[in-house]
Amino acid sequence: MCIRDRLNAIIAAGGTTALETPYTPERLADRYLVGPTVLCCFVAADRATGRLEGFQTLGREDGLPDDIGDIGTFARIDGKQRGVGSALFAATRERARQLGLSAINATIRADNTGGLTFYGKQGFQDHSITPAVPLKDGRPVDRVNKRFSLGVS
Ligand SMILES: CC(C)(COP(=O)(O)OP(=O)(O)OC[C@H]1O[C@@H](n2cnc3c(N)ncnc32)[C@H](O)[C@@H]1OP(=O)(O)O)[C@@H](O)C(=O)NCCC(=O)NCCS
Repeated sequence: MCIRDRLNAIIAAGGTTALETPYTPERLADRYLVGPTVLCCFVAADRATGRLEGFQTLGREDGLPDDIGDIGTFARIDGKQRGVGSALFAATRERARQLGLSAINATIRADNTGGLTFYGKQGFQDHSITPAVPLKDGRPVDRVNKRFSLGVS
């Protein structure tokens, strides 16, 4: 399964990521892998089989200061945690420090309890709520903005 297939499978399953439209290879590359707003992107692969297990991207986001990166993590949605997201975050956190960022922002749907727990376990703190952002079908869902401080000023 390639990065795009994994991301589009998570989007198709629904209920976790705020993303709702499947990605073409070009849009995926521009938005998350190598585009001008991308700060870094790490992938996790199974050492034995080489199978792609997930990816994590950090980029610039409208409305955020230049020294705060915005993170997205896409691993698995079957409820079995195997440390993929945590391993990815160890790499992203280190790179964010090297880049001189002061903090990392994660914006998570308020109904994505797995995503909220995951970022909480990585040390992200609640920062603010963006209320009632509509999904494609018009249903309003709050977004929780969490921040991880890198301790750089
Ligand atoms: C959220 C997600 C990235 C977690 O990845 P993962 O590889 O399963 O995470 P890890 O195994 O590293 O888990 C780290 C910690 O978070 C907790 N956690 C992760 N997912 C969880 C879930 N669905 N429910 C409860 N806790 C969860 C783990 O229990 C673990 O806790 P521990 O440190 O006490 O063992 C993955 O489930 C995913 O891709 N979800 C769909 C997309 C999404 O929601 N992304 C986040 C918003 S951008």
